Amino acid sequence: MYSLGIDIGGTKIAAGVFDENHKLVKRTQVPTPQTATAINAQIASMYREAVEELGKIEAIGISAAGNVAADRRTMTFSANIPAWIDYPLADHIEELIDHEVPVIVENDANSAGWGEYIVGAGKGTKNMVMLTVGTGLGGAIIINGQLFRGSFGMAAEVGHLPMVPDGETCGCGLRGCAEKYISGTALERFARSAVRRRPQKGARLLELSGGDIDAIRGEMVSQAAKEGDELGLYAFNKIGEWLGRSMAAIATVLDPDTFIIGGGVVAVGDLLMKPAEYNFVRFLQAAAYRPHAQVLVATAGNDAGMIGVADLALQEVLNKQNA
Ligand code: BGC
Ligand code: NA
Ligand code: ZN
Repeated sequence: MYSLGIDIGGTKIAAGVFDENHKLVKRTQVPTPQTATAINAQIASMYREAVEELGKIEAIGISAAGNVAADRRTMTFSANIPAWIDYPLADHIEELIDHEVPVIVENDANSAGWGEYIVGAGKGTKNMVMLTVGTGLGGAIIINGQLFRGSFGMAAEVGHLPMVPDGETCGCGLRGCAEKYISGTALERFARSAVRRRPQKGARLLELSGGDIDAIRGEMVSQAAKEGDELGLYAFNKIGEWLGRSMAAIATVLDPDTFIIGGGVVAVGDLLMKPAEYNFVRFLQAAAYRPHAQVLVATAGNDAGMIGVADLALQEVLNKQNA
């Protein structure tokens, strides 16, 4: 039984067909088109291509950044794609594929968190929280082995925890959201401002960016930090501290057994994980008198979202058949 998982990212759309044991049988990817309509057409053509090659596909799961309604079909808000406000994404795709198979939509971090739970670092955990540190900050909550979507589908939007009064303006319109302090974008901002304030220490970062402070990118900060560069390490310590603080806040509410940190930024490993774990315990209530959740690096890789959403879509179809 095949299920098609589609991950709509900021730069690319990745599609993977998985069998019921989460084994990848086909994978394609294309640059993300500019408009919502073009994205729909692209997804439909990826489905057609998969059917031509493999025969029957049972379900399509679509993973995307932003708020997804409780119906698992509608994008209610996305900072990236302006048309995705109360946008019936699943309806549009189902129409384009002549209603051959059902489509479900799931938040990108929820999808990745589910992927980690079924095949990655979250296997065997009971209550886990995944945090994806990438361009933004995403979250997924799994309680008693089930993805927790909240009452309106929007649980685990941890990137918008209100952290800093009158802080940085977020893509969601609010100020001081967590993702303005915990993300690749935040890493760049911290590094740039450090170089601006202490140019004599910024030599390595400036060298990597061709002398242009505004051209400092996350990968350069990672490289500098790995070499032991003071400002590079400073930037990772900053986002690590905010990450730890957020985990402590989440733990006071949910008391999970496991946190999993994923997303592109965690590739630096301990440079992020050490300050995150340190500050998690530092800000955890009654830390000396309670067990601490384990904090793990994600292991399912870039395909976690595709794997997760393909599985969620297949489960939905099977549940309907059994109902
Ligand atoms: C969005 C989330 C998304 C996260 C990671 C946030 O800005 O609000 O829906 O999961 O970024 O992409
Ligand atoms: Na989420
Ligand atoms: Zn926000």
